Amino acid sequence: MALADWQVGEAAPPHVPRERIVDIRFAMGHAPNDLLDPYAATDALRAPGVPRLLYSPYPFGDKTQGTWTVAHYADIQRVYEDNAHFSTRGVAQFQLLAGETFPSIPLGIDPPDHGKYRRFLNVHFTPVALKRLEPQVRRMATEMIDSFAPLGEVDIAWDFGRVFPVRVFLDLMGLPFAMFEQFLAWEWEILHSRDHARMGEAVRQVIAYLREFIAEKQARPDDKLGSYIANGAIDGRALTPDEVIGMTWFLWLGGLDTVASTISQMFRRMALDQDLQQQLRDHPEWNHSAVEEFLRMQPLVNSFRLVKQDLDWDGVTLKAGDYITCLNSSGNFDPDQFPDPRRFDPARSANRHYTFVGGVHLCLGAHLARRELRILLEEFLARVPTFRVKPGADTTVTPGLLSIRNLPIVWDPK
Ligand code: HEM
Repeated sequence: MALADWQVGEAAPPHVPRERIVDIRFAMGHAPNDLLDPYAATDALRAPGVPRLLYSPYPFGDKTQGTWTVAHYADIQRVYEDNAHFSTRGVAQFQLLAGETFPSIPLGIDPPDHGKYRRFLNVHFTPVALKRLEPQVRRMATEMIDSFAPLGEVDIAWDFGRVFPVRVFLDLMGLPFAMFEQFLAWEWEILHSRDHARMGEAVRQVIAYLREFIAEKQARPDDKLGSYIANGAIDGRALTPDEVIGMTWFLWLGGLDTVASTISQMFRRMALDQDLQQQLRDHPEWNHSAVEEFLRMQPLVNSFRLVKQDLDWDGVTLKAGDYITCLNSSGNFDPDQFPDPRRFDPARSANRHYTFVGGVHLCLGAHLARRELRILLEEFLARVPTFRVKPGADTTVTPGLLSIRNLPIVWDPK
């Protein structure tokens, strides 16, 4: 494929050159496929002759307009690190669809204010705090694995991937497990219905629920993260109601299903590649680097930024008010940054991928997610022998969040 194959005659703002208006939704998580590497198609975006800045005219996320896109590692890095030109205002701001005006915190806040919220939340995400969680996370993982290991079969996406990290997250926040199915149903509506009325309705219900949860934690505080925020203070003053809901809401949105999708894609790859499974069993010392490589090769989220002031770049002008999407689904495979980028190398070092983005908004939950994935890999491989996809099962992936709903895998029980 080349530039001409993607060009479309859709409407775009007048400052966007016609030849840059393209349909590259295949790289933006909209095109299901059945490849071992579901992100393989994005190499075409970095082929010689393709301009480094393209424009996708289609609505995305909660937005109704199109977006510039960058696909090279160095360009993505520039966007994440240049806070003077690029802002996270409006990113994942689904609450606007429910008529709410509070910002998502910390994601929707630019430096320097962003730093004070990060410092406030970090207390629950330091290595020491996460180490304290570890026995509980390990217990949850092993109990669940032990429950299905003798059966020789599990739907690893639906019965495990979907459940395990959400249990960890609910426990971290102090949210009730009884809300599990309801939360996931709301999240599905918000991230996947692609219907603004349905998205807005789900957001309204989540926020109403979270406001009650906050009031409950203010009346009866406990030692969980939800209560810490509900009763929090920064610089000696209590957090405002908007700050409290802004943080609680965004953690709910960011923490619920990201690890779940990662797990499903991780097991899909291992089930389709038994040599990889064997390598991981033979080299437990690669556990850390292998988790990082799974993350690099499964960039679930393509993040976008709001252009704050006009900028001339690659022969075009980005105007204040435009959006620009960083195609992590491409940057993570840029050969200028990663040698032999399409090869899954479980021992890869210097693996600075963008699955958790980069710059100041680097995912707050990254260390928690890594720890969960490492524990899981260790415990699963110790308890379940070589596994494969159940014959006849559909292994189609939509390369984004909640990317695999069902993935039955089978093995010969010990
Ligand atoms: C593999 C799992 C995860 C992935 C792939 C992931 C991905 C991301 C990405 C891409 C961003 C940046 C969004 C942007 O800049 O546009 C982000 C930010 C964030 N994530 Fe995660 N995330 C994961 C797990 C978690 C978990 C478990 C939590 C919470 C318990 C969490 C909480 C957050 C928060 C609070 C931010 C905002 C950080 C800031 O703005 O300073 N994430 N995450």
